[in-house]
Amino acid sequence: MSNEINSKILSGKEVAASVYKRLEESIISLSSRGVVPGLAAVLMGSDPASEVYVRMKTKRFAKMNLHSETFYIPSDLKEHDIADLILRLNENQKYHGILVQLPLPKRINTAKILSAVSPEKDVDGFHPENLGRLASGNPRFIPCTPKGILEILKHYEISTQGKHVVVVGRSNIVGRPMSLLLGLKNETGNATVTVCHSRTPDIGYHTRQADIIIAAVGVPGLIDADMVSPDTFIIDVGVNRVDDDSEKGYHLEGDVNYDAVQGIASAVTPVPGGVGPMTIAMLVENTVEAAENSLTNRLK
Ligand SMILES: NC(=O)c1ccc[n+]([C@@H]2O[C@H](COP(=O)([O-])OP(=O)(O)OC[C@H]3O[C@@H](n4cnc5c(N)ncnc54)[C@H](OP(=O)(O)O)[C@@H]3O)[C@@H](O)[C@H]2O)c1
Repeated sequence: MSNEINSKILSGKEVAASVYKRLEESIISLSSRGVVPGLAAVLMGSDPASEVYVRMKTKRFAKMNLHSETFYIPSDLKEHDIADLILRLNENQKYHGILVQLPLPKRINTAKILSAVSPEKDVDGFHPENLGRLASGNPRFIPCTPKGILEILKHYEISTQGKHVVVVGRSNIVGRPMSLLLGLKNETGNATVTVCHSRTPDIGYHTRQADIIIAAVGVPGLIDADMVSPDTFIIDVGVNRVDDDSEKGYHLEGDVNYDAVQGIASAVTPVPGGVGPMTIAMLVENTVEAAENSLTNRLK
């Protein structure tokens, strides 16, 4: 169903463009001091979606004249060999940031591998030290997707102060850091946060009370019209491949029924073109920040 009045589109593409513009000055300044921010991306196995994500990220680095390199490792590599590779990358001054593309194969202890990344190079913000700092209100690197969502809210002047935000999903990479950030006592936080997940009996009961809904679930169209109250702001993190008869064989859908919430929600992020571009922009920003930190060696 498409209502007569459409909701405002919160364009991540547009916000990302403004982030890249703002980063230009820092990149030029670093380059005048002989530093080119560099990223090492570790890609394990041959998951097509992961390959696409890493390609998109490294393409953006090239576009910004930044250095990036992808380390392709076979899916049967032993855990300690992956850790050895990461330790070598930690030592290599060419790389200011290291990202391990998730998910890793099930047999791999993901937490162990993420802990091997030096916290100073952990531009994804997944190292326990960095997650701990985030939880205590003194973040070093904020995970890229939640950080990008805060940028979208800031750009469109959607305040979180005193608002009720319902985060659907509690993963370590999106939902949990998102809910922690929104609860912090600062200008991008101060929200009352409800976290829903697969064991929440009636998600709609919560989302209908929200000023802002953030859906990071991985279920296409889970947030439907009857779960949304008028004037809500909706951030749709979901990127779900849905099979169809097109040449590609699939199309992408978010976790929100985008057409159905039109005219009910005040504003909504599209998929694609919403949160996705911001995740990449924040990876670039975190890597530039890591390069700056490497020069000043400042405590953050
Ligand atoms: N746009 C981007 O840049 C970006 C970045 C990262 C992820 N994503 C997308 O965002 C989505 C979520 O990613 P993720 O890594 O957070 O996924 P994840 O690790 O699979 O976590 C999904 C979360 O949703 C909850 N959940 C699953 N099914 C549910 C249901 N039917 N009702 C309520 N909650 C449910 C899970 O609950 P439990 O904890 O109880 O299992 C879990 O907390 C995916 O579509 C992913 O592709 C997009």
